[in-house]
Amino acid sequence: MTTRMAWRRARAPEPGASRSMREDVLAGLRAAPKTLSPKYFYDATGAELFEAITRLPEYYPTRTELAILRTHARDIAERVGPNVALIEYGSGAAIKARLILDALESPAAYVPVDISSEQLARVASERRREYPGLRVLPVCADYTTRLTLPDLPAGSRKVAFFPGSTIGNFHPAEATAFLKRVRTAIGPGGAMILGVDRRKDPQVLHDAYNDRAGVTAAFNRNALVHLNRELGATFDLTHFAHRAFFSDAESRIEMHLEALVTHTVTVGGTPVSFERGETIHTESSYKYDAARLEAVVGPAGFAVREWWTDERSWFWVVLLEGLAHA
Ligand code: AVJ
Repeated sequence: MTTRMAWRRARAPEPGASRSMREDVLAGLRAAPKTLSPKYFYDATGAELFEAITRLPEYYPTRTELAILRTHARDIAERVGPNVALIEYGSGAAIKARLILDALESPAAYVPVDISSEQLARVASERRREYPGLRVLPVCADYTTRLTLPDLPAGSRKVAFFPGSTIGNFHPAEATAFLKRVRTAIGPGGAMILGVDRRKDPQVLHDAYNDRAGVTAAFNRNALVHLNRELGATFDLTHFAHRAFFSDAESRIEMHLEALVTHTVTVGGTPVSFERGETIHTESSYKYDAARLEAVVGPAGFAVREWWTDERSWFWVVLLEGLAHA
């Protein structure tokens, strides 16, 4: 055992830092190339910055998906049928859930799933107030792992709702694994309403992640503020720059934080060295075409039954149903 290991062991974790967060962050920062999970964007400030991103003129996904849902809510509702138990993965998208709930014929239940218990409690009480008589059954869980659903009204059809193109944050193999778990949760008669960002002019993609006001840059760099607070890390924000670009080969936007000088940072008591120009890869946002989407969805046992898009063909809301033989 090295002296550095012994020294690290001797350190008590920073207050409030779960061991798993420290280990998870350090595993990514020790890898080559360095990575940090996009989940670390979302502290309170990060959640607000993301809200601000959704209002940026360059950031088309949110308003484009909303337009699709507004235009096609009736179609979607008709397609999934009556007595739906709507299971929302990540319960932040109040307006989007309402558009679906308002269009559904006698919805049986609304099941918001979220890792944040405060967010979940707020969403559940809002929905109960707005839809008296609707059974609201919140589930506090990390939906990226395993999900056990509550008992749902007899005869209801389980329909998963995953808007926002959050599926794009998963690498394709992870997206398939996630969709497989959804399919298991909703059962053979279930369905999924999924928001997917489409491949398009790379300039449009570039601009959406390099806005003129610098909100996306602040959002990206805020992950370091989060680590400074939660892990007692020593990131100097003036030493890191926001980088975002489209990789055509990977069909994804990559966001990175680039070290502007060679230096060493301490993270949870452990030194992490950066070469000038080295980056931390903080997020991938995959952009799909039909073939790429079917390649991710098919192996999970789903087929795309409906494709709803906008007038510029920039975004999809798709309906997935289980393949009969899967
Ligand atoms: C919330 C994952 C859909 O990938 O576009 C926005 C996050 N990152 N700007 C996306 C994000 C930078 C967003 N998702």
